[in-house]
Amino acid sequence: MSTQFPVPQASEAPLTDSFGRVARKLRISVTDRCNFRCGFCMPSAPLWLGANELLTFEEITRVTRILGSMGVTKVRLSGGEPLLRPALEELVSSVTRIPAISEVGLTTNGMFLAKQVRKLAGAGLSEVTVSLHSLKPERYDAITGTKGAFETVLAGLDSAKDAGLRTKVNCVVTRGCNEDEICDFARLAYEGGLTVRFIEYMPFDGAKPWNSTLVVSGEEIISKIRSAFELEGGERAPGSTATNFRFRGKREGGVSTITSITKPFCSDCDRIRLKANGMIVPCLFSNSEFDIRSGLRSGESDERIAQSVRRAFNLKFAGVESLIRSGAALRNIRPMHVIGG
Ligand code: 5AD
Ligand code: SF4
Repeated sequence: MSTQFPVPQASEAPLTDSFGRVARKLRISVTDRCNFRCGFCMPSAPLWLGANELLTFEEITRVTRILGSMGVTKVRLSGGEPLLRPALEELVSSVTRIPAISEVGLTTNGMFLAKQVRKLAGAGLSEVTVSLHSLKPERYDAITGTKGAFETVLAGLDSAKDAGLRTKVNCVVTRGCNEDEICDFARLAYEGGLTVRFIEYMPFDGAKPWNSTLVVSGEEIISKIRSAFELEGGERAPGSTATNFRFRGKREGGVSTITSITKPFCSDCDRIRLKANGMIVPCLFSNSEFDIRSGLRSGESDERIAQSVRRAFNLKFAGVESLIRSGAALRNIRPMHVIGG
């Protein structure tokens, strides 16, 4: 006799946009603040949210539960720097307890990771992605606008591995800055048995002005790595941002490219975003956002909140692909620190 396991069911119809794309992943920015000042992410004079504008952990958990009932299964916590939010493990714990949610990941700059990783892992965190854009301490200082953090961040990365968490590195590659380190990062992946994801530089409103000549394409990144390592694969799972490569003969570790600019993946995008102030952001590359905080704070029912989310998601922008095709200028897109990727 076979044992039957209950299959978690979304109680409502899936969250679908006007192009038929279905939301499965929720990215939650828990704060817009960050202790670093990476120029591709932070404007030189950021406008911070006020403390009472931030959703509480209870409010975030409620929104996640409502989205879980509409088919979302994966959650990623980001910032700004999410570990600046005190007791983040409490949010991890309440989100992992939502039956519909099967995975909760964290994207962090790694500075406070070593201190907090045990509590986060104990709370049920599945995965940690550390943003690391140089392996040269002085260059790292210049990129992050912060002195002396490099060793602490590396220790944070190690602590995540030691805590048994799946660990990845995000590296934003910009021409003239760090493209000479691509093979060093690949070596880190090879030797450390972890995944390094190389992200094409995207046109968010940071202090460093974006232009297309600063973008190093995924193709160029992979061809550089192939000069030193034998790679296999090159698949992108539907809905995923990453094209994944493995090292020949190695079971662990790999490299990925996130080709948002040269080969965007908008047509099967399955992401929906929640800003720290309770705005639903259907697409990273459109400035449209939809308030659900006022509903949360004025006693609206779950059903009403769900309807507001549906209305917002139905207006999801076609994506950066459509901007590139139309030849529109890629600029004035909200800075990354308010949305967290
Ligand atoms: N282009 C690409 N990636 C960026 N990130 C921040 N700003 C940019 C940008 N302009 C990265 C962060 C983090 C991830 C969520 O996005 O470093 O790793
Ligand atoms: Fe902070 Fe990450 Fe933005 Fe750098 S990229 S300023 S570490 S949020």
